Amino acid sequence: MSASPPRPLAISARGPLKGRVTVPGDKSISHRALMFSALAVGESRIEGLLEGEDVLATAAAMRAMGATIARGDDGAWTVSGVGVGGLLQPEGALDMGNSGTSTRLLMGLVASHPITVTFTGDASLSSRPMGRAIEPLAQMGAEITASPGAKGTETLPLMLKGISPAVPITYTLPVASAQVKSAVLLAGLNTPGITRVIEPVPTRDHSERMLRGFGAELTAEDGPEGKIISIRGEAELKPQHIVVPGDPSSAGFWMVAASIVPGSDVTIANVCMNPTRTGLIQALRMMGASIEALAPREVGGEPVADLRVRHAPLKAIEVPPELAPSMIDEYPILFVAASVAEGRTVARGAHELRVKESDRIATMRAALEANGVALEEFEDGLAITGTGGTPIPGGGAAVTRLDHRIAMSMAVAGLAAAAPIAIDDVAPVQTSYPAFFDVLDGLVA
Ligand code: S3P
Repeated sequence: MSASPPRPLAISARGPLKGRVTVPGDKSISHRALMFSALAVGESRIEGLLEGEDVLATAAAMRAMGATIARGDDGAWTVSGVGVGGLLQPEGALDMGNSGTSTRLLMGLVASHPITVTFTGDASLSSRPMGRAIEPLAQMGAEITASPGAKGTETLPLMLKGISPAVPITYTLPVASAQVKSAVLLAGLNTPGITRVIEPVPTRDHSERMLRGFGAELTAEDGPEGKIISIRGEAELKPQHIVVPGDPSSAGFWMVAASIVPGSDVTIANVCMNPTRTGLIQALRMMGASIEALAPREVGGEPVADLRVRHAPLKAIEVPPELAPSMIDEYPILFVAASVAEGRTVARGAHELRVKESDRIATMRAALEANGVALEEFEDGLAITGTGGTPIPGGGAAVTRLDHRIAMSMAVAGLAAAAPIAIDDVAPVQTSYPAFFDVLDGLVA
């Protein structure tokens, strides 16, 4: 994936947001839909796939390893899979762009196939820790070596030599990571016997739900150390018709924008309400936000609802650290909400933010501070003293560091700022929400 040239953009207040939006398909579910379809025997159909750069990186990788993937004129995607165990040796390196999910999940898939794959990525991805995925995959028998140009032995570019048959393991997650959990389960798909992951802290369970939907034998039960997820390997996956629900992480930007801009009233349709993803809604409601979940239903094995969000005065809270895994990607936008709340919001217990697309504690601290927000940085979070409902000063820069969620969060901050916020680069929104600025234009029209 070629890096886009930087696209600077200044954002200022534009009045209330009103109307109905449909957010793009969930990013986590979109990656998994492509990967599992590519391993099924036969043709799957995917509706509502997120067509952002991260997911397109996964599509390109699965094609390079033998799957046939096409987008129809109706916007639905069809995937003809190679069968579990059938991944082919790709001709060149797999470029993962900005996508940690593509990288860690595909490392898992490759680990139990007799192929050797070099993974590369952009500057942001090449500084993110891959040791957390390498450790269990090496236990299963994969060989991982740093490639020339890598900053360390556990960062991209990396070469992974898979093995078949791999060794089934029982692995207790040392960090709360759905990507690492999924990497081990996906390696287990083509490994004889039962591969187990023990998850002390629950993380998003899209892999488990969807693998079951594809016919894999997968169980989850509570044990003394946490949830025990077991998958029987050498599975045969059956092709599926998947409808991807809307991404709650993308919906988060409109939830906060509507909550903090006076006069706003926005309905966000078709949002995935999987309980492992709804931490932001819980935190915003604790702050006094007006978020109504309408027409609850099930789509593609996931709970879904439409969310009506109206402006409401927000009060500071101590964000419960146990919410972290269910809102890990939403802290940047929560920090924006805290900036206009009344009082001092404290969000701690979120160390993982340091190793996302950017160091999201440092990046948001710098961006908000440059725009007049009073805050304090901790190793594991931020404390933010809000304005009590009046606009933040603004008038400063926001440096996004190739991080889509920083760009969108600071754009929302601009809507509640007295002077424009100059974002250095909004090109990264292509990662997860290519239409973000068009949707914004529609909501303030
Ligand atoms: C994801 C898991 C989370 C999240 C990421 C998507 C997934 O990462 O931050 O955006 O699809 O499994 P971690 O597993 O590193 O927590």
